[in-house]
Amino acid sequence: MTGAVRHFLRDDDLGPAEQAEVLDLAEAMKKDRHAHRPLAGPRSVAVLFDKHSTRTRLSFAAGIAELGGQPLIIDAGTSQMGRGEPIEDTARVLSRLVAAIVWRTFGQERVEAMAAAATVPVVNALTDEFHPCQVLADLLTLRERHGPLPGLVLAYLGDGANNMAHSYLLGGATAGLHVRVAAPDGYRPDPAVLARAAEIAATTGGSVEVTGDPAEAARGAHALATDTWVSMGQEDGRDERVAALMPYQLNAAVLAAAAPGAAVLHCLPAYRGLEITGEVIDAPDSAVWDQAENRLHAQKALLHWLVSR
Ligand code: CP
Ligand code: NVA
Repeated sequence: MTGAVRHFLRDDDLGPAEQAEVLDLAEAMKKDRHAHRPLAGPRSVAVLFDKHSTRTRLSFAAGIAELGGQPLIIDAGTSQMGRGEPIEDTARVLSRLVAAIVWRTFGQERVEAMAAAATVPVVNALTDEFHPCQVLADLLTLRERHGPLPGLVLAYLGDGANNMAHSYLLGGATAGLHVRVAAPDGYRPDPAVLARAAEIAATTGGSVEVTGDPAEAARGAHALATDTWVSMGQEDGRDERVAALMPYQLNAAVLAAAAPGAAVLHCLPAYRGLEITGEVIDAPDSAVWDQAENRLHAQKALLHWLVSR
């Protein structure tokens, strides 16, 4: 396969058939964890962080090693970018050294600038606007729980304006899900992201909806998702955010409104007693630990797909 270099900066950088292809590959690779070695050599992958991380850092490190490659993990602030070297120059240099660049940073325009100047794939490992690797893992988790994705209902409760909400809208619509976001005024999704998700949903048979009523969103849902109410960088507004979002807590009453066997999703880290109760996240069939493991499998499949083109 040869073609123009592809990036994964937003969930809709994979079309519906491509997303399904990556998820199929992830399922196959999960069954035989060491059978696929597209980075053998080893070829290296740069994994850069401007924000904290446990799962992303370690799942990429382990996954790149399992693909036969070498992860080069650094805090981006300790690179010359931290002293003002342009993103574009960094992209040109890294493209001469590694097979792919994975970056967790602040504004989406930063990963876009990296991709525009790179000649190797760039992967968004979380920005303020999107967390597409997480939603790829969550879609894999949903498939394992409920089978084929088209037509399933996913309800997301809480901060509807954050990276996870945006990625559920775009990634879920791409998968043909019915995505419902329950959030109060001031915490609703970016209208441009919502419009793009609706446009995608119209082609996949899915749908997107935003409501102020968490019980209505949860009714009959196959998956209930939430995320922290205070994303990285939002710490200053914590008290106000907690007060506004408390009615959107994922608790036993909300779970009771969902479909039997509904998957409870949280990208982690979780704050028990705030966006989710301990009773719900620690239930025996909670899907959150599967989600965390599936970061590894989904990202291995994504890297395989991107570097093998
Ligand atoms: N879910 C997630 O991205 O976790 P980390 O912040 O630990 O990487
Ligand atoms: N919305 C959260 C996700 C953490 C994985 C944040 O950006 O901090």
